[in-house]
Amino acid sequence: MAILVTGGAGYIGSHTVLTLLERGDDVVVLDNLSNASRESISRVEKLTGKTATFCEGDILDRACLRDLFAQHNISSVIHFAGLKAVGESTRMPLEYYQNNVTGTLVLLEEMRAAGVNQFIFSSSATVYGADAPVPYVETTPIGGTTSPYGTSKLMVEFILRDYAKANPQFKTIALRYFNPVGAHESGQIGEDPNGIPNNLLPYIAQVAIGRLEKLGIFGGDYPTKDGTGERDYIHVMDLAEGHLKALDHIASVEGYKAYNLGAGVGYSVLEMVKAFEKAAGREIPYQISPRRAGDLPAFWADASLADKELDWRVSRGVDQMMRDTWNWQSKNPNGYN
Ligand code: NAD
Ligand code: WQD
Repeated sequence: MAILVTGGAGYIGSHTVLTLLERGDDVVVLDNLSNASRESISRVEKLTGKTATFCEGDILDRACLRDLFAQHNISSVIHFAGLKAVGESTRMPLEYYQNNVTGTLVLLEEMRAAGVNQFIFSSSATVYGADAPVPYVETTPIGGTTSPYGTSKLMVEFILRDYAKANPQFKTIALRYFNPVGAHESGQIGEDPNGIPNNLLPYIAQVAIGRLEKLGIFGGDYPTKDGTGERDYIHVMDLAEGHLKALDHIASVEGYKAYNLGAGVGYSVLEMVKAFEKAAGREIPYQISPRRAGDLPAFWADASLADKELDWRVSRGVDQMMRDTWNWQSKNPNGYN
């Protein structure tokens, strides 16, 4: 039996495919390469000495999914495929709902037709919305999202909850990621954003390599330890391992279950800049800029449920996140290109 990984050529997907291959799982990757390079999977294969089946295709393409399920004996699906840029989603809401919501519906329908009943979904801390108490805990009702991106994740969680209620054979885990950063320790795979990065760590890394001039820190007057935003950063390899733990656990899930995947600690933007400077041995020029619309001051995870029920916890700290980000960026100044 094989695991289907949609969006498996992307940032989190490629690291997860690597951990799956390393432990001996059979993997089929489906990716339309809209935000990824085929090269990521070639490198994963070189690193592991194993091969994954790669299908270039779209989750919105029903015929492609039907063929894929007919050709491979799939036991479970890990669903990373989706669009993820918060700002872009406010300008292109229809594209985001089409890709993230309709795409997931088509995938679920074709899974049902093929009799595949285990589904792990890439959700996000953003589903807690703007007013949730910090730290975020799974018992807090989700809602109040502030972008079409966030609402698309919320809608899929509701769809999964309702579908699992109606179909007792269907088992699903929504993993709510906090802020994934870092790269595989080899420096061979990592995050390779198109254009100017939206997220903090890729931006800092591109300043360090000289592709960008200086970092703008969005807001220096938040009610936080040093006035800059605080987030829960999680090493992408810890996150990848969380998917393996979720796979191991899914057969015993009744219906739908959500878990936070975070470290359970908040770091400020300035703390991240200092930690990166230490790891890379170079200064990161920055200036305090106006707040970014829609940003929250501070949030982090209560990660105790995943610890207790999935036997999962982070094992990599901020220094390693920075070391691995810099290793990837300095070995691949232009990403996979
Ligand atoms: P990514 O863009 O690197 O990976 C997504 C992959 O999906 C890409 O390889 C892209 O080519 C592919 N894809 C997009 N639409 C597709 C479609 N219609 N059919 C087939 N393939 C398609 O992003 P990532 O950071 O690896 O994120 C993976 C998932 O985790 C996404 O669903 C994202 O929303 C979610 N997530 C990411 C973060 C984060 O900060 N990176 C945080 C929380 C949740
Ligand atoms: C982190 C901190 C910024 C860039 C987003 C999505 C979330 C999830 C992860 C998918 C904040 C500050 C950033 C910069 C800065 N994605 N910052 N200058 O906004 O916490 O979360 O990505 O699900 O849903 O909303 O991540 O990396 O953009 O920002 O000062 O150039 O860094 O204000 O405090 P964010 P981020």
